Amino acid sequence: MSRRDSILQELGLGPIWKLRAAEAAVTQAAVAETTNAKSPAKADSAAALISPQKKHAEEAVAAPDCGREQQIATMGWEELRQSVAECRACALCKARKQAVLGVGDTQANWLFVGEGPGADEDERGEPFVGQAGKLLDAMLAAIDLKRGKDVYIGNAVKCRPPNNRTPEPNETTACWPYLQRQISLLQPKLIVALGRPAAQTLLGTEVKIAAVRGRLHQHAGIPLIVTYHPAYLLRNLVDKSKSWEDLCFARKTMQSQLG
Ligand code: URA
Ligand code: SF4
Repeated sequence: MSRRDSILQELGLGPIWKLRAAEAAVTQAAVAETTNAKSPAKADSAAALISPQKKHAEEAVAAPDCGREQQIATMGWEELRQSVAECRACALCKARKQAVLGVGDTQANWLFVGEGPGADEDERGEPFVGQAGKLLDAMLAAIDLKRGKDVYIGNAVKCRPPNNRTPEPNETTACWPYLQRQISLLQPKLIVALGRPAAQTLLGTEVKIAAVRGRLHQHAGIPLIVTYHPAYLLRNLVDKSKSWEDLCFARKTMQSQLG
C-alpha cells in the first residue's frame, strides 16, 4: 500500500477518496469571503468575564487588567510562553497542570487552531499529543505536512477545561489576546480552524461547522478555512470525507497563496 493510501486508510476514507476526486469536489465548492468585523476580545471586555456574584468564589482568578491586551500585543514568543504559564485571566487556570501555548515552526505558512488542551496536552505541555493529535498528524501527512515543519499548532484556550468540556465563551474571550498575538507574530499564509470554538473565536461570531466549512473566510486579512475537529471525527466517521475535502481545499488555497 502506498503512503497516501495508508494515510487515507487511517483517515477512514478507504480507496474511494483519492486526491483527485476530492479536489474536483472542492473546486465546485462555493468560495465566499467573510470579514471578521467583530473580535471576541473587543466585543466582550475582560472586565465582564466574572460576574459580581461569582467574584467571591473565584477570588483565585486575578481581577482583569485593562492594560493586559495591550501588553500581550507587544510580546515576543518567550514572553508569551511566560505570560500564559502565569496567566490567571480566566477560571481555567485553576485546574491546569500547565498552560500550553502552542508548538511548531514560528516561520510557518500554516497555522492550525484547535480547541484547548486535553489531559495528555496538560501533562506534556504540547498541543494535540493524544488520540485527536494522532489523527491530526495523519491529516497533516495526507496533505504532505508535518508537525513543526512549516506548521504551527495552537489552541483557542491555553489551559485545559476540566473534564475536557468545551471552553465557555468568556474563556475563549479571555484567551483571545494570546492567539491574536501568536497570529500577528506568525503571519501565516493560511489558518485552519479545527472545530467550533476555534472557528467562533477566529470569526468572532457563533457558527455551525457544516455551514462555514467549504468556504474561504478571513481573519485579519489572512485566509481562514474551517473544518471539523479531529476528536469529533474520531466519533463521527461519516464526516471524515468532508474533512478530507476541506484539507484539499486548504492545500489548494495555500498553493494559490504561494503563487
Ligand atoms: N484537542 C484540542 O483541541 N487541542 C489539543 O491540543 C488537543 C486536543
Ligand atoms: Fe489565561 Fe488562557 Fe489559561 Fe484562561 S485559558 S488562564 S486566559 S492562558
